[in-house]
Amino acid sequence: MIDDSALIASLRSALGNHAVLVDDPDMAGFVEDFRGRYKGRALCVVQPANVEQVALVVRHCAQAGVPLLPQGGNTSLCAGAVPDANGPAPVIVSLARMRRIRHVDAVNRSIEVEAGCVLKAVQDAAAEVQCLYPVSLGAEGSCQIGGTLSTNAGGTSVLRYGNTRENVLGLEVVLADGRIWNGLRGLRKDNTGIDLKQLFVGAEGTLGIITAATLKLHALPTHHSLAWFAPVDPQAALRVLGLFQENCGAQISAYELMNERQLQLVVERVPLRRNPLAQRHDWHVLVELSDTRDGAEMDECLQQTLEEAVGAGLVLDVIVAANDTQRAALWEVRHSVTEANKGAGVGLTTDCAVPVSAVPAFIEGATQAVREIVPDIDIVIVGHMGDGNVHFIPMFTFDAWHGLSDAASTASALRRSVNDVAYRLGGTFSAEHGIGQTGLPEMSHYKSPVELAMMRAIKQALDPRNLMNPGRLVP
Ligand code: FAD
Ligand code: LAC
Ligand code: ZN
Repeated sequence: MIDDSALIASLRSALGNHAVLVDDPDMAGFVEDFRGRYKGRALCVVQPANVEQVALVVRHCAQAGVPLLPQGGNTSLCAGAVPDANGPAPVIVSLARMRRIRHVDAVNRSIEVEAGCVLKAVQDAAAEVQCLYPVSLGAEGSCQIGGTLSTNAGGTSVLRYGNTRENVLGLEVVLADGRIWNGLRGLRKDNTGIDLKQLFVGAEGTLGIITAATLKLHALPTHHSLAWFAPVDPQAALRVLGLFQENCGAQISAYELMNERQLQLVVERVPLRRNPLAQRHDWHVLVELSDTRDGAEMDECLQQTLEEAVGAGLVLDVIVAANDTQRAALWEVRHSVTEANKGAGVGLTTDCAVPVSAVPAFIEGATQAVREIVPDIDIVIVGHMGDGNVHFIPMFTFDAWHGLSDAASTASALRRSVNDVAYRLGGTFSAEHGIGQTGLPEMSHYKSPVELAMMRAIKQALDPRNLMNPGRLVP
């Protein structure tokens, strides 16, 4: 066994002094989550430049028996990317320097990128060859491909293109013993046994460090039709989704819901954001259609469907984006929710998914459930209605939060009450954000013993010494 200072010395000789951070001010941005709610301890932060350096780091840590915590953009909404305050301090492996786009194959519709590539950079590289990398979310300017793979991120286009898991063709991974697995195949079909890459998707760094990926690209839509409308209630929003599915089918690429309180926080707290509609309404939907062909027919489909919805008394008000600037402005409103909520207080962001048909019942049930615990709790709702994923967010002002006699227990009880409603409706407590620290108690509570045992067996097989992000994912 080698001691901590010997480990740091060996990491420095492997990576260079500049790539090993040990001073508290240098490590500050890596040990605390972006909302400033969770802060942990790390032995050091390393910033490898390539897969061989990642492998060296893992081997040195394995030799010293020191755990590793991979980190991408540190945008996790469940404190997944920061270390615990207790327990052994890990080496944080930041992938930020590994941001090369290695290869784009427009004919094969695939792109090979390093794990530290920011999601937006991958979208842009795909667009340069008239292709689309469809995973899209509010943090796309800072979250990394490795982070989106490790959490199986969802976002706003899952209803059409699937989540990250459905958009990965191959992976390169450094295993817990330092071996490099090159599984960077760009194949749509490959039935040579167990699909190993999928083990690492959603594993949150507990099985290995993803260093590169081959991702699936799609045809780049060149025409978009977008509307923002006020449905009477979530049930009406669901019926309008049905109308869009009947009338416009595969062209629907986003169907996002938020409540009045969420919109109000965005308008109040984020500069330049305003209510897209002339009046206030209880519920809001952003719907987008997109296609690679001329947009006139699609615009008409959007218009006619909305007219039908207004005629049926399902929709109270509508605005259709007249050009790309208006369209971008409406997306900005949607993508500003986390920034707004962060400044507004302590929002307990839940991440349930239920069958799409059960979204209205989920919202109603969760509202009732949290009000039984805190009768006057502020309720913020935003989500991806088109895929059944609703972020139901009980929100405290900072003062109210600090006034709670036991904030942690109240938070757990509120989360559990929301999650219970989802489970009663056949849902899940974690749709897209992952487990992180906030979801760990829910894993023990909701996953069956047989599921947990299978996960533990996989962990044991791939990381027998429990060095890769220990204590996470499987309690
Ligand atoms: P990090 O937060 O750094 O890490 C997340 C987890 O992945 C950690 O467990 C970490 O150890 C592990 N990890 C990171 N990189 C690697 C790697 N290379 N190898 C192995 N493990 C690794 N999420 C959604 O799904 N949908 C949304 O719509 C959405 N919207 C968001 C909007 C905002 C404004 C913000 C701040 C966050 C949002 N998120 C959303 C959450 C977050 O952005 C995603 O979970 C994202 O995938 C995390 O990427 P990251 O690079 O920041 O990962
Ligand atoms: C979103 C984050 C909260 O949907 O996942 O904006
Ligand atoms: Zn989301």
